[in-house]
Amino acid sequence: MNTKEFVPADIERLGSAIADDLRSRGFSIQLGALPTQWVDELYQTVNRLQPQQFKTAGVGRANQHQTDENIRKDQIVWIESKEGAQSNWLSFAGSLQRELNRQLLLGLFSFESHFAHYAPGAFYKTHVDAFKGQANRVLSVVLYLNPEWSDADGGELVLYSDAEPHRELCKIRPLAGTLAVFLSEEFPHEVKPSKRDRYSIAGWYRVNGSSVNRVDPPA
Ligand code: OGA
Ligand code: MN
Repeated sequence: MNTKEFVPADIERLGSAIADDLRSRGFSIQLGALPTQWVDELYQTVNRLQPQQFKTAGVGRANQHQTDENIRKDQIVWIESKEGAQSNWLSFAGSLQRELNRQLLLGLFSFESHFAHYAPGAFYKTHVDAFKGQANRVLSVVLYLNPEWSDADGGELVLYSDAEPHRELCKIRPLAGTLAVFLSEEFPHEVKPSKRDRYSIAGWYRVNGSSVNRVDPPA
């Protein structure tokens, strides 16, 4: 999307494309999903953060949360600011939430997201973002921020089949403006070792407690 604006028609079109993909296969990859300028400002924002603001990311359920550098080596900063580029992102996430709820009756209730920096050599081994039956994180979204990325740079996001864990379903190059959306419980995924500094935003929609109203699992 090569504009500064993001109008209701854009979100409706994008929401429909994502909803169709989620219905048919449980994940969706959209290139140029957000206005170029917004993505660029998010890239500049993450680059301006101070090293001490980044935390080593953890693994495991909330009460067993721990850091494990054999599993993941990214550094994160949670997005909370209601200003500038971050507020554009949060308003985009809110619009997408409304649109997907309208089209899929997912009952998405809240959204959380963080910037992630993978330094050269960093990776995130195969994992799922939510455990089945716990009805916590329902939908994962990742937005990529690097304005340039070549195949030799590694750092791809790879989605695997839940039924056949070694079958690659999709390999995504982390190039600015690409948005990956997938059902959090259904797709084991990994970030391949990155050869350069890699910047993304990872986010999750949750449902509200026990009122689970979700899309059918993909065939
Ligand atoms: C995550 C994740 C993917 C990516 O943070 O849980 O899977 O491509 N991120 O950054
Ligand atoms: Mn993940």
